[in-house]
Amino acid sequence: MTFQKFILGLVVAFGLPWLLLIVIPFGKMSNLEAVSFDEDEDGRVGVYSSDQQHYQFGSAVYGANGCYVCHTQLIRPTYAGSDMWRDNWAGQNKDADDQDTRRESVPQDYAKETFAHIGINRVGQDLSSVGYRLEKEAASLGLSPEAFIYRRLLAPRDFVGKHWSTCPSQPQLFKKASPFAKSQNVVTFENAEGELQAYVPKKEAKALTRYLLSLKKDNQVPASMSYKPAK
Ligand code: HEC
Repeated sequence: MTFQKFILGLVVAFGLPWLLLIVIPFGKMSNLEAVSFDEDEDGRVGVYSSDQQHYQFGSAVYGANGCYVCHTQLIRPTYAGSDMWRDNWAGQNKDADDQDTRRESVPQDYAKETFAHIGINRVGQDLSSVGYRLEKEAASLGLSPEAFIYRRLLAPRDFVGKHWSTCPSQPQLFKKASPFAKSQNVVTFENAEGELQAYVPKKEAKALTRYLLSLKKDNQVPASMSYKPAK
């Protein structure tokens, strides 16, 4: 092999993926065109703009604690994955008005975020619309969504049928407290040795909880942008 061919090989091996995976998607995503609703297809008119509220500090806590290593926030198109067909995963199968809100992710979903946590692995569930699932699970256990998430963050394996969970405990987001403290904020649970543990959430835990509950990326987008099973 000549030196020239070697250099050419290097350029192709690194340059082509760089072009296809970074330069082209960046160009496409940074010049998003406004997309309009279609009255016949969507039942409304106007230009789509994301109405998602974004919780900056909670999102930073999510990033700093490596949640994105195991959780994605990207509902894949139906040809690339089964996200759309999992219960309340890509949105709600049925909302209060009996509507199906499930849909694929669109680039506008991340428009207000300083960092888009699309994630790098799918070890745990996709969290794009986890707000709905957390509210439902909390209600089924008779807990407030916040109290349920604090317990989940501290002791992910301390729930019926979850002893196998590899979701790591996050004690650094809490302060240890006395199990006898009489405050509504105290989260108590028994550890593996049967000892009562008590913690109070720090501001990081509160912000992360608000952020997780805000994750409901299933607001209506023009049908031309994203696939919905209802269409
Ligand atoms: C090592 C991989 C890993 C990391 C890192 C991780 N998780 Fe998990 N997570 C999982 C797995 C596996 C599950 C599924 C089992 C379960 O429900 O506990 C899960 C489940 C969850 C659920 C429940 C999702 C649902 O659909 O009900 C939430 C919420 C969650 N994780 C939040 C977090 C947060 C917040 C962080 C960062 C502080 C985090 N996870 C970091 C692996 C991980």
